[in-house]
Amino acid sequence: MASQAHVGMEQLDLGQGIQFPNSHPQYNPLDHYRPHIASLLAKITGVDPLIVYPAVSLTQTLDKGDMVVAVQALRIKGQQPQALAEKWASEFPQSDLVEKPIADGTFLQFRFKPQALLNSVLAQIFKTKKTFGQNPVFGFKDPKDPSKGRKRIIIEFSSPNIAKPFHAGHLRSTIIGGFLSHLYEAAGYEVIRVNYLGDWGKQFGLLALSYTRDGDEQALQQNPIGHLFDLYVKINAELTREKNEIKALDEEAAPLADLQKQIKAAEDAGQDATQLKSKALPLEEVARKSQDLKDNGLDEQARRYFKQMCDGDEHALSLWRRFRDLSIVRYKQTYARLNIKYDHYLGESLVKQESMDLVEKEMDDSGITELSQGAKLINFEKLLPGKPGKQLGKALVKKKDGTSLYLTRDLGAIREREDLWHFDQMIYVVASDQSVHLNQLFKTTELCGHKDLAARCSHITFGLVLGMSTRRGTVKFLDDILRDVAEHMHEVMRKNQAKYEQIEDPVAVADILGISSVMVQDMSGKRINNYHFSMDAMTSFEGDTGPYLQYAHARLCSIFRKAGIPDTEIESADLSLLTEPHAINIVRLLARYPDTVTMTLRTHEPTTILTYLFRLTHALSSSYDVLKVLGSEPKLMRARLALYEAVRIVLGNGMRLLGLTPVER
Ligand code: ARG
Repeated sequence: MASQAHVGMEQLDLGQGIQFPNSHPQYNPLDHYRPHIASLLAKITGVDPLIVYPAVSLTQTLDKGDMVVAVQALRIKGQQPQALAEKWASEFPQSDLVEKPIADGTFLQFRFKPQALLNSVLAQIFKTKKTFGQNPVFGFKDPKDPSKGRKRIIIEFSSPNIAKPFHAGHLRSTIIGGFLSHLYEAAGYEVIRVNYLGDWGKQFGLLALSYTRDGDEQALQQNPIGHLFDLYVKINAELTREKNEIKALDEEAAPLADLQKQIKAAEDAGQDATQLKSKALPLEEVARKSQDLKDNGLDEQARRYFKQMCDGDEHALSLWRRFRDLSIVRYKQTYARLNIKYDHYLGESLVKQESMDLVEKEMDDSGITELSQGAKLINFEKLLPGKPGKQLGKALVKKKDGTSLYLTRDLGAIREREDLWHFDQMIYVVASDQSVHLNQLFKTTELCGHKDLAARCSHITFGLVLGMSTRRGTVKFLDDILRDVAEHMHEVMRKNQAKYEQIEDPVAVADILGISSVMVQDMSGKRINNYHFSMDAMTSFEGDTGPYLQYAHARLCSIFRKAGIPDTEIESADLSLLTEPHAINIVRLLARYPDTVTMTLRTHEPTTILTYLFRLTHALSSSYDVLKVLGSEPKLMRARLALYEAVRIVLGNGMRLLGLTPVER
């Protein structure tokens, strides 16, 4: 692969023909450096280059140099690491790529030579542009042989429930899942994006009842998500009233059982029970009322309706199907605003009965199920000793009336996806409060004899969002959140009247900035951390926010507009004019972008990318005063523009990777 290297690297010693694993200099400029340092160090230490190579790592911060090697990692016994560091530092040969290393305690610090770095990094960025930072080799089934095809990953995310509120968990899943899809695509995987809708269960029986009674065809067409939600709220309130009524009636009728015993005793003893009977009469009436509600009330009607749906009753199904289809039309529009497009809208309803039957049979055959009062369950506590069993507890897999559960549907779905797609990996992006559910899912799949399948599945978790509410009350769908933030953003923008007046379409800009605000706030911390949903903080132009990132990008774009120099002239600039430490630091950061993406593939943390982008934009904003464009010599101007152009490309790439739409003005 080193043979494909470019920009004057061919003559450099990249490792004397040694194949270094995961080294792809055509995609990652740092892969010129790692093998180079490893082979030179191997020569003077006598250690196998393949042992030295993984020890060559990036420094945490630039003040510690660019790369560092821990002497101990070279596993030389019987010698003082500190002394070795000093010895090797002095023996290290001349190199075109790196300065002589510095011994820092038990570490060897390396600094890249600025000119070579500038030339290779900028050339690579200009050559690859929007794909800089991507490395398709990671997605190859066989890294050495692209013809073997690409790895396939299924990413399931967002997965809201039709007619129920779109809550913070769905918001985070949408943002993180969208990001992971871009990330895996950038790594050359074939990504299948899946939305697994909550579109099945007794609540749909209830919703159908509600629609039959109070539904409005026009409202459904215009705003299906809102209308169904309203119906759902209304009928649920009724259901709660019904439940309370049953409870009150049952309490009132409670003395009846005792009375009936007394009546029987009196009659058995040949005594007069008339008085007792007259006392019992009104209570019997109350009990009848309660029973009637239980037999024919909303809850039971909903159950029956849902049972019809399960049994494939076309009439019952057709209404539900319309709810689903109309909702999806609207979902698609909203997801598009976040640059998300699903390959498949699956859902709990689409899981086939035969798949669930198959899984049930396998569960029975493996002896992991037991019957309990007509229902079927798995008792993990009994099956798995100790903590693992305790954590998973017991899980119902079939109800008394034979209908399926959330878990059963997921169990069927996993198998269908495997049969259909033969995936290499499947990721479920779901809030951490469903960890038990997903672990039950994976464990059961494993216990049914599909250990390998279970091992290819994983749960990407995340914490809670605190205090997310909108001005107009409940969140029905993502639109409600986005609209609110956009309005807030618009108000923030208005505060700077002078700038505000320059914006052509403030509503559209507020909309994009609003979306960036929500996303950046969400991706700022580690996934597992909870965070506070704060409109003021997220829409601020100060601090590490979405608007700040967008501003940094737009400012770069405006520099090029003002300079008005063609790209080709910028890209062929004389980079030897870039000598200021500010310029060098920026290019050292740019060189790290592909590594940052690679690292994120391991951590699955969007904050890894975000933190990098903020470091880059901070370096950028502190360099504007030093690396002036307007007013400098034409040649110098071109060189600086080249640097800024490279930053613009990398910043844009990072933003798009996160799912943001970089603005130009
Ligand atoms: N619809 C579910 C909910 O809102 C999330 C689905 C998660 N994915 C899964 N395969 N269970 O809670």
